[in-house]
Amino acid sequence: MRSLIDVTELSTSELELLVKTALDIIDNPEKYAEMCHGKKLATLFFEPSTRTRLSFEAAMYELGGNVLSVTDAAASSASKGESVADTAKVVSCYADIIAMRHPKEGAAFVAAKNADVPVINAGDGGHCHPTQTLADLLTIYRNKGRFDSLTVGLCGDLKFGRTVHSLINALSRYANMKFVLISPEELKLPRYVKTQSIKQKGIPYEQTTSLEEALPNLDVLYMTRVQRERFFNEEDYLRLKDSYILTPDKMKLAKPDLCVMHPLPRVNEISVAVDKDPRAKYFEQVSNGKYMRMALILMLLGVIGE
Ligand code: NCD
Repeated sequence: MRSLIDVTELSTSELELLVKTALDIIDNPEKYAEMCHGKKLATLFFEPSTRTRLSFEAAMYELGGNVLSVTDAAASSASKGESVADTAKVVSCYADIIAMRHPKEGAAFVAAKNADVPVINAGDGGHCHPTQTLADLLTIYRNKGRFDSLTVGLCGDLKFGRTVHSLINALSRYANMKFVLISPEELKLPRYVKTQSIKQKGIPYEQTTSLEEALPNLDVLYMTRVQRERFFNEEDYLRLKDSYILTPDKMKLAKPDLCVMHPLPRVNEISVAVDKDPRAKYFEQVSNGKYMRMALILMLLGVIGE
């Protein structure tokens, strides 16, 4: 039995299998419509979510399975003091697979250690978010046709943005990558991510506070929201929240085939006027998330594999 806590647990050939499967699901949805018949997915979301939870649930329904769902920590036994370990054990009695989001780093790991069914980390605090990375990878693949030889700019809250940490972990395994880290001083990428996924692998990178300077060289631009819920101090949030706003004017500086991504929700980071630009891929990214989660559920339930 296998869980998914961090994207690095998937080999590059497994990532490719997931992408291949997702592309096949897009072309032949009927082939997959009953593959999880009789199976149940439990979504345990102890932090707000729209896309991630609904896309997991849509994914399971489109595979012919069913869904059980906890959407509010306050309405679950967690509010009575139940541990993550016990919740995971209990839910294993009802469901065949669990997707869990939790405000504490490491919560999904604890759940996976104690559950009797696969656990998927749907975001643990400011740590990682592997299934968003699966959505991101499919988006890059569908738009760029490859994962290697890309200059990828990551912009915004690189400190608390868990999607950024997981995406860098995944892309750092491909050849000829270059990262451009664009953030305010206070929201720089955590040292552990930079050391493990960039420096130790000898990957070239630049750090800058200027989106305008970085833009002309990028193949992919990954915008992120400043993670208000992880700040200790509202004043700092207010000061930093509008550090970067991508506008049609700034898009003039970018390559004609730039791929603009954002895990969403957006607050102010991308002006709505950019949505009409054909380089804006963040809504496509949302639907890619569902297909990759379908492929992942099939992999963890042992329906597909190497
Ligand atoms: C992201 C998250 O939860 O980390 N959202 C998502 O899952 N698409 C990004 C964010 O909340 O800013």
